Amino acid sequence: MSTDPDMRTEDWDGKPLASLIEYIVQTHHVYCRQEVARLQLLFREVLDRHRKDHPELKRIHDLFLQMSRDLSMHLLKEEQTLFPYIAEVEVAVAQKAPVSWPPFGTVGNPIRMMILEHGKATEEIEEIRKLSSDYTPPAEADGSYSALYEGLAAFDRDMQRHIEREDHLLFPRAIAMEEEACRRQSVADR
Ligand SMILES: [Fe+2]
Ligand SMILES: [Fe+2]
Repeated sequence: MSTDPDMRTEDWDGKPLASLIEYIVQTHHVYCRQEVARLQLLFREVLDRHRKDHPELKRIHDLFLQMSRDLSMHLLKEEQTLFPYIAEVEVAVAQKAPVSWPPFGTVGNPIRMMILEHGKATEEIEEIRKLSSDYTPPAEADGSYSALYEGLAAFDRDMQRHIEREDHLLFPRAIAMEEEACRRQSVADR
């Protein structure tokens, strides 16, 4: 139930940013939303049965809830504002057409915000990892408990890949592309 463990980041070199964006949304964003919903149900079961003996479960759940709420807004900001703008600049650059500058100034501004939000989500999932002893269920764990920890471990791995693809592949290329469009436009305006 995880995404693409074998897909190497280098495979995206030279490919259009629009296809990288499509890939990120169709795999990581879809997975993230599905898993948040599924894990919430599992949390409910496991908390009902085990919260008394395992008080760390409540803290793990609180962190997961907080992280999920923030992520749901985060994904929307990417899908509705940042990603469409990056795709639009890419088309303009390919067609040597002028870029209409966005209300947020330059792409670096929302990207800085997204990177900060990635940092917060990373801290939360690291805390979850620690509290769950690296997703190791206790000896008396039942099927739901084990499934919850297995699901959280996969969610953690997927989030790392998701963030890596945005922070290290998509965002640097989007910034460079906008700078290039900006340079071209100022030459054309002279
Ligand atoms: Fe994303
Ligand atoms: Fe993101």
